[in-house]
Amino acid sequence: MMKIETYGLSPAEWNGDVLVLFLFEDEMDPLEKTAEDIRPTLAEAVSRVDFRAKADSFLAVNVPGGQVKSVYLVGLGSREKCAPDNWRRGAASAVRRAGKDRFTKMMVLPCDGAKEEAAKAIVEGALLGEYRFDRYKSVEETSEKPLKLEELYIHGGDAASVEKGLVTAAAQNFARDLANEPGNVISPATLAEKARKMSEESGLECVVLDEKKMKDLGLNGILAVGGGSHNAPRLVHMVYRPSGNATGKVAFVGKGLTFDSGGLNIKPGDFMRSMKGDKTGACNVIAIMKAVSELKPSLEVHGFIGAAENMPGGGAYRPDDIIRMFNGKTVEVDNTDAEGRVVLGDVLAYASKQEPSVIVDMATLTGACVVALGGYTAGIFTNDVELASSFMEVSRSTGERLWELPMDDERLKKKIRSEIADIVNSGGRYGGAITAAMFLREFVDEGIKWLHMDIAGVDNSDEEYGSYCKGATGFGVRTCLEWLSKYESR
Ligand code: BES
Ligand code: MN
Ligand code: ZN
Repeated sequence: MMKIETYGLSPAEWNGDVLVLFLFEDEMDPLEKTAEDIRPTLAEAVSRVDFRAKADSFLAVNVPGGQVKSVYLVGLGSREKCAPDNWRRGAASAVRRAGKDRFTKMMVLPCDGAKEEAAKAIVEGALLGEYRFDRYKSVEETSEKPLKLEELYIHGGDAASVEKGLVTAAAQNFARDLANEPGNVISPATLAEKARKMSEESGLECVVLDEKKMKDLGLNGILAVGGGSHNAPRLVHMVYRPSGNATGKVAFVGKGLTFDSGGLNIKPGDFMRSMKGDKTGACNVIAIMKAVSELKPSLEVHGFIGAAENMPGGGAYRPDDIIRMFNGKTVEVDNTDAEGRVVLGDVLAYASKQEPSVIVDMATLTGACVVALGGYTAGIFTNDVELASSFMEVSRSTGERLWELPMDDERLKKKIRSEIADIVNSGGRYGGAITAAMFLREFVDEGIKWLHMDIAGVDNSDEEYGSYCKGATGFGVRTCLEWLSKYESR
């Protein structure tokens, strides 16, 4: 783990490998903060390539014999349009470049001194940017991998923001680590065990329901989906309680399909690939609970995960089956590949029993959401206008793009009507992300504010961009934590 500290002295006096200067567009005066002997080299490089600090621009300048070996200039774009994610992306680019340059000691000048948001975002960008899932790579192959940063100094940063950034990014990387593990390593039982172990280490309450307990309670949706696998399903309930009086009660719910083969409606190979990632919502919830135990809000926070493996075994649920769910509603199975909503229906109803004021669920729920919004924006769906706008606002600072999809289309809602049961588990192709959300809504108790985030597509990346890495992204963790802190101070 890299050492991260704030630095209060003049940057010109600092010695290390690389100095990172953040600059607003066409405002190059922070260059004056560097040591006198390297300024001419910087000025020459800047004018040679006409570097103007446009958003996401990057220039590495070698400064032989100077206070440092290299200076990275990172453009923030115009002062008016700059958001915390500009620092986050810039810091991610800087640590990646430093890794390739084999530098281990970095100092960052955020520009405009000690903006708290900038310090937090820089720490996050640094930790997220250097994340790699390489634990299965053999030693020989990893010997040429980029170096990891050992020391990071934030000029003018404040310790509280640095600490918040650290907790947040560590949680997101924890979610990535869990989600990247394949189905032969993480089963519903081992996912539950990860949650239990984290809870024990973090002082959280944790209850794991196994198959037998779920049968007793009538959690028949989870049991149906998990029926085709040798790896039995689990429901996990984690709780954080503040030391003083709780100022509110919030629940997070995550879809934890440790593998989604589609079940009897089996997926074609190309679509089955990557379905180890179908547990990402649950991994996010485990990570959020870990961060909550460290950030210690004055809220009571509950985390629920529904863990199951969707497989086509002899005990598998079938198309045409009718399931009586935990809340008593009956579901006709049209397609066994629409399993996430069947699991979450039970978990949402179970979470409702705790009577939280707000439930936020995250799920890699529909391919239709990826078709609608692409792979870089998550869909949100809610029964509360304010909840939507507060998530949209938070999203602008976390850089996790969200877009709200409508829930008020009464004609579309008819698609999940069943002739013989209360609802059917698939509403067909058109509006598939919305009908899935409408299905979930049936399982949230009246009076509870609820927001559903469809993270299909954004949960995973095949390219490195901004603070995102290849593989599991941990998308949603920071947005939920940021929203929670806004909600706490409401
Ligand atoms: N886990 C998938 C959704 C998914 C697709 C996540 C692509 C990430 C990337 C979900 O369980 C699923 O299979 N949904 C079906 C629903 C359909 C059968 C109504 C889908 O989207 O095709
Ligand atoms: Mn599926
Ligand atoms: Zn699924």
